Amino acid sequence: MKFLITAGPTREAIDPVRYLSNRSSGKMGYALAKAALEEGHEVSLISGPVSLSTPGSANLVCIESAREMFDAVKTRINEADVAIFCAAVSDYRVADIAAEKIKKNNDELLLKLVKNPDILGSARQEFGFTGILVGFAAETENIEANAKGKLERKGCDFLVANDVSRSDIGFDHDSNEAVIYAKDGSETRLKLASKEDIARQIIERIR
Ligand code: CTP
Repeated sequence: MKFLITAGPTREAIDPVRYLSNRSSGKMGYALAKAALEEGHEVSLISGPVSLSTPGSANLVCIESAREMFDAVKTRINEADVAIFCAAVSDYRVADIAAEKIKKNNDELLLKLVKNPDILGSARQEFGFTGILVGFAAETENIEANAKGKLERKGCDFLVANDVSRSDIGFDHDSNEAVIYAKDGSETRLKLASKEDIARQIIERIR
């Protein structure tokens, strides 16, 4: 099967030398790419800036901003049988990117942000994707309700939820613990394990 996987953070430029981003390391998405390759699948990995080496024979597509990730996904998603959206996409970008480096002339600086496109949320209606769709949810509260809401709203077959309020798992850590909510109402609990182990279990559940 052909997999498309998004991974890592996005960067939203403020001026030529500064950006807004988040703490995503890309480890979970890269582990998923590795696990899918190990099972003999083809993988397109659409990745924000990370410090990780490319897993095996994955077809790596490097992007920076959410809008670049949107375009990269749009042009490739319909070649895939399975699309996994693991990237921590910036929900907002800077409205007017400064052409020159911003000088510290004032005591206050206001940045106006505008909403980025929801890439996962565009998969069904806008991109017309009919394959297996897997989303992730990084939550700090009401995990189950938020995850089930996202599963439904974004047209996913599976939604992998993890608790990012915990300091020992998730963002920028080597291990994770998660629950896979499926469209059919079933739940699969993945106990604390390395991101490689969690990735293998997610690929197995999708299979
Ligand atoms: N995602 C995406 N494009 C965005 C934002 C999120 O593709 N612009 C994907 C992520 O890769 C992940 C899922 O959507 O698979 C998580 O969405 P999230 O932003 O947490 O959910 P929202 O429904 O936007 O809700 P909120 O941010 O308000 O929690």
